[in-house]
Amino acid sequence: MKLSSKNRLMPMHQDLFPEDTLFCRIARTVCRAGVLPRKELYEAWEMARRIRRRFRGGRVVDLACGHGLLAQILLILDQTSPSGLAVDTRIPKSAEALFAAMAETWPFLKDRVCFETRDMEEITLLPEDLVVSAHACGCLTDRILTRAVAARTRVAVLPCCHDLETCDTGGLTPWMPPDLAVDAVRALKLRAAGYDIYTAAIPSVITPKNRLLMGEPGA
Ligand SMILES: C[S@@+](CC[C@H](N)C(=O)[O-])C[C@H]1O[C@@H](n2cnc3c(N)ncnc32)[C@H](O)[C@@H]1O
Repeated sequence: MKLSSKNRLMPMHQDLFPEDTLFCRIARTVCRAGVLPRKELYEAWEMARRIRRRFRGGRVVDLACGHGLLAQILLILDQTSPSGLAVDTRIPKSAEALFAAMAETWPFLKDRVCFETRDMEEITLLPEDLVVSAHACGCLTDRILTRAVAARTRVAVLPCCHDLETCDTGGLTPWMPPDLAVDAVRALKLRAAGYDIYTAAIPSVITPKNRLLMGEPGA
């Protein structure tokens, strides 16, 4: 099975996930919704489990959320988080069907997850929040990091679409590929802002844009 496939997971694909594991339960639920590209399931799962190894609790704020699955999985993995807010300027219509299926399997999600169609700049962030974002394109990732630092929240981003016109390579391109330079500069800027940073990668067979940058305000 190609994990990076953009084909939608459909009800007939439930058989691909037969085990009695949390991942397979989530995957079968996603299949029943019949709307989500396969790649997005794996991205959200792999990102969420790495984030939860570092960060527990807090309101989850999923910026540029798309279908909002990341916020939902983060709440399932750690129910001490009181709520999840999923924000996007254009929430896909299919997010509703996905959320309905997820909330049927995990009814607590119904009361705890909220979607808002908004620009992420309009969201008030609080220091106890956990701000996450998967594949916020180009400098949107930088704007999310800036907002998180301003509010001193914990943050986790999986950058994509490195736009060399708007993203800072730090003059490092003779030494390393430009997209790596952009992410290295992001990590060091976060550290310079007084954050403890943690870097990880999700499997590259899911996406080549697989660098996970996490940070929390230092003590
Ligand atoms: C590549 S998609 C990623 C979606 C989702 N996080 C995922 O991993 O599948 C980028 C998303 O950013 C959203 N977006 C772009 N600018 C935004 C902004 N200023 N505020 C909130 N969302 C924004 C787009 O509508 C789009 O859904």
